[in-house]
Amino acid sequence: MTLRLAILASGRGSNLQAILDAIDAGTLDARVVGVFSDKPDAQALQRVAEPLRWARPPKTFASRAAFDAALADAIAEVVPDWIVCAGYMRILGPAFVDRFAGRILNIHPSLLPRHKGLHTHRRAIDAGDAEHGASVHLVNAELDGGAVIAQARVPVRAGDDEEILAARVLQVEHPLYVEVLRLLASGRLDVIDSQPLLDGHPAYIPLSLEFPHS
Ligand code: GAR
Repeated sequence: MTLRLAILASGRGSNLQAILDAIDAGTLDARVVGVFSDKPDAQALQRVAEPLRWARPPKTFASRAAFDAALADAIAEVVPDWIVCAGYMRILGPAFVDRFAGRILNIHPSLLPRHKGLHTHRRAIDAGDAEHGASVHLVNAELDGGAVIAQARVPVRAGDDEEILAARVLQVEHPLYVEVLRLLASGRLDVIDSQPLLDGHPAYIPLSLEFPHS
């Protein structure tokens, strides 16, 4: 079944581009049915045709909840199978999360549960971590707190700065997100009652996947 994906993005959109490239290459059976942003000038929006774009500045809404409700209504209109956060830098409120419970994915640039929140690369370096990476997880009401579905690791090397480490992590983010979506499209991966299952079992979760990196 072709997965209908609603993408949420606030910035560059390189993860979105990796998803679009896999769809174009015929290696991911999915369709991007909308790109939604809190930043009208986000580069991510430019990666899809104009009719697929939705962007509103949250400041123009009376409250955080009102913005979330407008976003949720716009997403519901395109009837997605999955809501895919790809560099979406705004917290989704409880009403939004409840409305799409168990159907929202996020990619986070750390090996969760380590380094939830912002500045993950700097914090991994400062903590002296030998390994860092990225996690694809379900979104629930707790920040970066939903069940982790899959992770990919990279080494932290002597002399790494934030930028170098972020670039190394990004190299594995792209194939990691695409692989999780591929597993969902094939039906091998499913989420039942907010519990990810691979081939019907929880035991393989979180998947630890390996990809080339610098
Ligand atoms: C990615 O590194 C993603 O993991 C991170 O933002 C970047 C977006 O890059 N997401 C978060 O930090 C979410 N808390 P992109 O716009 O090029 O896909």
